[in-house]
Amino acid sequence: MKTVVGNLKGGTGKSTVAFNLALWLANMARPVVLCDLDPQNTLRDAVDVRVEEGHMPTVSVFGSIPKQADGDVIIDVGLSNMEAVRVALGRADRVLIPVTPSQADVWATQQFLDIIDDSTKGGKRPDVITFLNRADTHPAATENAETQGVLQEIPGMTVLDNKLSQRMAFRRSFSEGMGVFELEPRGKAAIELNALAEALFA
Ligand SMILES: Nc1ncnc2c1ncn2[C@@H]1O[C@H](COP(=O)(O)OP(=O)(O)OP(=O)(O)O)[C@@H](O)[C@H]1O
Ligand SMILES: [Mg+2]
Repeated sequence: MKTVVGNLKGGTGKSTVAFNLALWLANMARPVVLCDLDPQNTLRDAVDVRVEEGHMPTVSVFGSIPKQADGDVIIDVGLSNMEAVRVALGRADRVLIPVTPSQADVWATQQFLDIIDDSTKGGKRPDVITFLNRADTHPAATENAETQGVLQEIPGMTVLDNKLSQRMAFRRSFSEGMGVFELEPRGKAAIELNALAEALFA
């Protein structure tokens, strides 16, 4: 299954999510490769750190989508190369869109759906799944529920109940080449990531 992690907005967590999901699968001994189509090479750098630090299991990173792959291919895209994004969307079985709780992100998601439809017309439309990343942890915050509510009104995609909150552990683990569930297995970030991964890959 080829999953493109994409969005029209920068900094919504595409690379962080792609990396964590691939490591989650690898830790389950499920075959997975990462595909880094972003000229920033974020995933390649993160995997390099992982290898240097000797964390196991390792995950292979490709610079293009492999023709044949056993198991899952998780594809991270960069916005500076929209042509590559369109090609990846055309080959995707599903598209996972991390959305941060903001109106600008919701608008960008709507536009990204148009790009998905345009890039896949004439072929099979991939499943489109969205979820909240960097969700507000403040108990009084209303933005998470508001954003989820607005996303649910957009036709053509599934909105997961699972969300990842804004937590330091994501940044810290990524810079060490680890998944959140490896750095802090009992932490809140790990619990959220495990639930998201199960919803996507169970
Ligand atoms: N759930 C989270 N909690 C806290 N920080 C997060 C979370 N998700 C992502 N981040 C942080 O947000 C920043 C952007 O994340 P990331 O690089 O994964 O986004 P991106 O969508 O791949 O960005 P780009 O568009 O530049 O490729 C990083 O500093 C990352 O550590
Ligand atoms: Mg990125």
